[in-house]
Amino acid sequence: MIRLRAFEPEDATAVASWVSDIEALTMWSGNSGFSWPFDAGQLMAFHAESERRTLVAVEADGTPVGHLSLKPDVPGWSARLGLVMVSPARRGRGYGATMIRDALAVAFDDVRVHRVDLGVYTRNAGAIALYERLGFQREGVQREVTRVNGQWWSALTMSMLDHEWRTNTTLGRSALDRATGAAPSSGTG
Ligand SMILES: CC(C)(COP(=O)(O)OP(=O)(O)OC[C@H]1O[C@@H](n2cnc3c(N)ncnc32)[C@H](O)[C@@H]1OP(=O)(O)O)[C@@H](O)C(=O)NCCC(=O)NCCS
Repeated sequence: MIRLRAFEPEDATAVASWVSDIEALTMWSGNSGFSWPFDAGQLMAFHAESERRTLVAVEADGTPVGHLSLKPDVPGWSARLGLVMVSPARRGRGYGATMIRDALAVAFDDVRVHRVDLGVYTRNAGAIALYERLGFQREGVQREVTRVNGQWWSALTMSMLDHEWRTNTTLGRSALDRATGAAPSSGTG
């Protein structure tokens, strides 16, 4: 069982320790401006940015196991989901799906954006499969936008719209409840 809470500077050391090399750093953070070797200081400085809402997934005992951020655009119509990562030791347990679903609840139910989008490298088949399973749609590919270890990487843009969120049957009972008004929305974020 995990829950989302706001990122705190003390989380930075744990989160930075999940990034093993420059490929993992780029796969996670894209063109966010981090450099290798990555460290907690870079993450703390990055999150000092005010408009980005950064969330950490924690287990029942408070151990941080995941990280993501939501960056609303200026009119507030859309939000960019980014910096999605689960601790390597905790992958494959459904934590990624849970924390993304909870972040979507924050974006669509609390912030009330019309659209959530994200960028994922085309080589990141696991993450793309997860986003598709959650209901994200493919929009298009930016060809060869990033260069890592002498290789060009292309990035896929994916998105979900608010009406898709409300009627999405793969997101679990809470989304269905919101669509039908059968229960109050979950208190995440
Ligand atoms: C992508 C990531 C967040 C997924 O977290 P997770 O907790 O392992 O994901 P979950 O356990 O909730 O879901 C697993 C599902 O995701 C997909 N998936 C995740 N990693 C996968 C992999 N390595 N290979 C194949 N499928 C994978 C599958 O659809 C899988 O579905 P299944 O449970 O039916 O098999 C995690 O692998 C991660 O942190 N990766 C490194 C950082 C990164 O690439 N972030 C995405 C940036 S856009």
